[in-house]
Order: sequence, then C-alpha cells, then structure tokens
Amino acid sequence: MARIVVLYSSLGGNTRQMAEHVAAGARLVPGVEVTPMDAAALDLAALESADGIAIGAPNYFSYPSGLIKHFFDLAHQRAAFKGKPYVAFSTHGGGGGISPVLEKLSQAVGMKPAAAGLDVMGLPQGDQVKDCRKLGQALAVRASS
Ligand SMILES: Cc1cc2nc3c(=O)[nH]c(=O)nc-3n(C[C@H](O)[C@H](O)[C@H](O)COP(=O)(O)O)c2cc1C
Repeated sequence: MARIVVLYSSLGGNTRQMAEHVAAGARLVPGVEVTPMDAAALDLAALESADGIAIGAPNYFSYPSGLIKHFFDLAHQRAAFKGKPYVAFSTHGGGGGISPVLEKLSQAVGMKPAAAGLDVMGLPQGDQVKDCRKLGQALAVRASS
C-alpha cells in the first residue's frame, strides 16, 4: 500500500481546507493510505517513510509559512527525501501564490514533482476544488507506480 502524507500549515484555515481537498483526491486512488499532517505537529519519520508528500503553505510575507520552511530545513541532506514524489500547493491573499517557492525548496532536498503546483487566493471554490483533487490524485498515482 502506498502512503501519502499531506503536509500543510495554516493559521487561518484556508490552506487546511485546500489540504483536505488534495487529500480527498489522493484517496480516490485504490490502495493508497492518506495522512494529513499539520506542520505544527511535524513527524519527520512519517514524512521520511511516505511514498509521496503533498506540501501546502500559505503566503506569509511573500514566502511559505515558517512552519513549512522548518520542514525543508530538517529535510536538507536527509537521504530519505531523494527522489520522493511531491506536489505543492498554496493559498494567498492577493499577492500571489508561493507554490513556485515550494517547488524550488522541494527540489533542493531532492524530491521530484508529480504534477505542477497549484495556487489559490483565499479558500478554494468551484473548479479550484476539482483542481485540488486532481493534484492529490496525480501524486497518489505517481506514488503507487
Ligand atoms: C502573517 C501573514 C502574512 C501574510 N502575508 C501575505 C503576503 O505577503 N501576500 C499575500 O498575498 N497574502 C498574505 N497573507 C494572506 C494569506 O496568505 C492568506 O489569507 C492565506 O490564505 C492564509 O492562509 P491560512 O488561512 O491557511 O493561514 C498573509 C497572512 C498572514 C496571517
């Protein structure tokens, strides 16, 4: 069974809700176990043993939240992250998504993209919810293969 962790941080709830949609998409793939993880309760061992990681952060001061940055600081030079599939997602308040920064950090620790990142202003709505699910599904398919 492939294991996916949806790692996110969220003070206001927007990114948490996006993470829930990403997780719902990953659960559409048979034989996949999906675990949401708030970065405030980071479990590095669980992330190391995951077959794929979805990483979501809010834009705080034009950068990913400090809690998500902390994950990358810990993941640096950890062999377990080399080659691990990931997808990135973010919410923002109008200043722009920061999934490109998440992509850069993910690749800096050796992870490999399973799909292009997704950015949403505020809460995901309508087709954005579908896009979140597709993102999670793409990761789960890659992690299962
Ligand atoms: C401390 C802080 C800094 C923020 N800085 C930015 C910013 O630089 N650019 C932007 O577009 N939105 C900014 N926002 C708005 C958040 O990115 C936006 O509301 C996001 O959806 C919040 O996610 P959350 O509800 O998961 O915490 C900021 C919000 C907070 C709390």
